[in-house]
Amino acid sequence: MTMSFYHEKIIAITGAASGMGRSYATLLAQQGAKLLLSDVDEEGLNETIALVNALNRNQKVASMIMDVSQPEHWQQFKDLALAQFGGCHMLINNAGIEGAAQPFWASMETQIKQTMDVNFYGVVYGCRCFIPLLVKQDWASIVNISSIFGFIGTPNASDYCASKFAVRGYTEALMVELAHVYPQVQVHLVHPGGVDTDIARSQKTAKFKHKFLTTPSDEMCQVVLDDVVKNNPRIIYGNHAQKTYWLSKLLPLKQLKKIIAKGLALVDKNEYSPDHKGFQ
Ligand SMILES: NC(=O)c1ccc[n+]([C@@H]2O[C@H](COP(=O)([O-])OP(=O)(O)OC[C@H]3O[C@@H](n4cnc5c(N)ncnc54)[C@H](O)[C@@H]3O)[C@@H](O)[C@H]2O)c1
Repeated sequence: MTMSFYHEKIIAITGAASGMGRSYATLLAQQGAKLLLSDVDEEGLNETIALVNALNRNQKVASMIMDVSQPEHWQQFKDLALAQFGGCHMLINNAGIEGAAQPFWASMETQIKQTMDVNFYGVVYGCRCFIPLLVKQDWASIVNISSIFGFIGTPNASDYCASKFAVRGYTEALMVELAHVYPQVQVHLVHPGGVDTDIARSQKTAKFKHKFLTTPSDEMCQVVLDDVVKNNPRIIYGNHAQKTYWLSKLLPLKQLKKIIAKGLALVDKNEYSPDHKGFQ
């Protein structure tokens, strides 16, 4: 039997209580990785740990209840990696939230800040805290999760799109810097399309979830893990992912914005009427 690439690799995952975070954890457990799991959701995290233990009893799992938007939690997560495993090979910056899921005017400043704090600054703190550990390894990888909403702007998601464009910009800059000084540290930017998870929790996104979030989470995450082995820097996979990428690259915004509005059919003109409370 051939040994998996990930066997004995020390891998930290944020947002491991649900969806893709749980998929990464279970897939990597089956491949013999040493896991460091975290999430704000204690109950979900415990369920993931039980699944991981059932899949591989031979490897130790370390875990922490952690809010990625809190820099001091990152320090503790790093300390845990050092105490339990003596370092880290790979960080998957996966934790994220859907954000306000409202028209731009109804997305309140506190919610916009929260979306940026979790989806963007969570990634920034993760990179700043863990890259000093990663550079000590002969092989290491940092995996930042953007979205296809890091290619296009979509209705009811102005804060989410802003956060995912920010992750993209930050990660593309990071990969250029690291390639020159620490080429053994791979940097990956993931743009999932619609993946079947619980991320779309609000009433407003229920229809969108049913229609677009269809790619199985395990399938998405196995593609990411395979592409990390191949050192593919930009990983685009999942429902509508390739199509959105190419449309965003090839079409002028003048056409693209019409296609997006029509394709997603999420703009309710009544919500933007001059009589509506948001415009008063
Ligand atoms: N599902 C999709 O279609 C899709 C598409 C593109 C990108 N993404 C991105 O993929 C990542 C994973 O999302 P998912 O679809 O698996 O969603 P999910 O909601 O199933 O999982 C996200 C996890 O992150 C955790 N989390 C939320 N806020 C946190 C915080 N402050 N600190 C720590 N953990 C926190 C949640 O508790 C949850 O367990 C996110 O970054 C998301 O934006 C998802």
